[in-house]
Amino acid sequence: MPQLRSLIALLLTFSAVAAVASAAPPAPGPPEFLVTGVVYCDTCRAGFETNVSHSLKGATVQIECKHFESQEVHHKAEATTDAWGWYKVEVGEDHQEEICEVALLRSPEADCAEIERSRDRARVPLTRNNGIKQSGIRYANSIAFFRKEPLKNCGEILRKYDLYDDSSENP
Ligand SMILES: *[C@@H]1O[C@H](CO)[C@@H](O)[C@H](O)[C@H]1NC(C)=O
Repeated sequence: MPQLRSLIALLLTFSAVAAVASAAPPAPGPPEFLVTGVVYCDTCRAGFETNVSHSLKGATVQIECKHFESQEVHHKAEATTDAWGWYKVEVGEDHQEEICEVALLRSPEADCAEIERSRDRARVPLTRNNGIKQSGIRYANSIAFFRKEPLKNCGEILRKYDLYDDSSENP
């Protein structure tokens, strides 16, 4: 049995090395993390996505990576959301000991451009030692600009969300 185990270990090591080799990009350089997430308009100023919130195309976010001990800023970049509200930012492998934070910068919609402190940012850990080993993609929580005036039917909508929390009955 020990022999079988070491054979399996050897095979696993070999296939891992092969996988790394075949997945390696043509250009040299360490692999990167891809930080991605959604920017939406919180039309009810609810603090969460509702059925009347919508994703924002052309919103600008800033990503900032700080070393988690020294708090030194190592990486700063801007990104703009695509047609579905998603932004994507590449961050180098050398940012493993950092926490990156995505924050709202500019909204494409004048009536949905309010920034609520603390709700305007999402943190993304970039370490590879947290059990999420394979993929370099890191999903940040959705962040939202607040609509200046909540939509007229927001009261009704939010009440429905409350009902869903309290019981599993139909609304
Ligand atoms: C959102 O949900 C509310 C409550 O369930 C409903 O009355 C409303 O029609 C929905 N709006 C949309 C755009 O789906």
